[in-house]
Amino acid sequence: MPYFNHETAIIDPGAQIGFGTRIWHWTHISATAVIGENCNIGQNVFVADQVTIGNGCKIQNNVSVYNGVILEDDVFCGPSMVFTNIYNPRAEIRKMDQVRTTRVKHGATLGANCTIVCGNTIGRYAFVGAGAVITRNVPDHALVVGNPGRQIGWVCQCGERLSDDLVCLSCQKQYRQTEFGLSEG
Ligand SMILES: CC(C)(COP(=O)(O)OP(=O)(O)OC[C@H]1O[C@@H](n2cnc3c(N)ncnc32)[C@H](O)[C@@H]1OP(=O)(O)O)[C@@H](O)C(=O)NCCC(=O)NCCS
Ligand SMILES: [Zn+2]
Repeated sequence: MPYFNHETAIIDPGAQIGFGTRIWHWTHISATAVIGENCNIGQNVFVADQVTIGNGCKIQNNVSVYNGVILEDDVFCGPSMVFTNIYNPRAEIRKMDQVRTTRVKHGATLGANCTIVCGNTIGRYAFVGAGAVITRNVPDHALVVGNPGRQIGWVCQCGERLSDDLVCLSCQKQYRQTEFGLSEG
């Protein structure tokens, strides 16, 4: 077996799971899900059909990754954070043809218990604070907190806040403004 799953996990036949990935207690992976290498998928996680998860992602306990969600490589999903996929659901009306895509770009962190309203893109190495509600696109390296989520600063690849001149005082990386947010260099 190129990956590990705890005996209580349910891996539907057909699911593609990469080398070195670990899947923990009571987690359900659907048949057409594609999960990369070296991911850690915690306890009580649901990965829906057609979801793609890149390499090196960490998904903490109690997260449902719904259809319409795309996680690029090295994404961190904090415990009990919430994705959505229908913008204006009604129990009486089937709206699965109205799924809005949520893309989480390389290296982004989604804090514990945050909610991502569907149709938004979380930028590369963006940082969503614990409990934030994301209602708009988040720029690369932006730090967003609160409800509704507001940007209060910028975060380095290493996870530390940047100074006003866009330097990380912890690892010395320097950043510059781009049309997507910040970029290294
Ligand atoms: C965002 C975070 C990293 C703190 O960053 P920081 O640069 O140290 O921020 P500070 O603590 O200096 O706070 C700056 C301001 O933002 C506010 N703030 C910080 N985090 C916040 C959050 N999650 N929600 C709302 N406001 C927040 C602070 O209250 C402070 O407000 P003030 O200026 O009015 O006093 C941290 O609060 C956080 O949310 N971490 C995520 C933890 C997590 O989910 N881990 C998951 C795995 S266990
Ligand atoms: Zn840094």
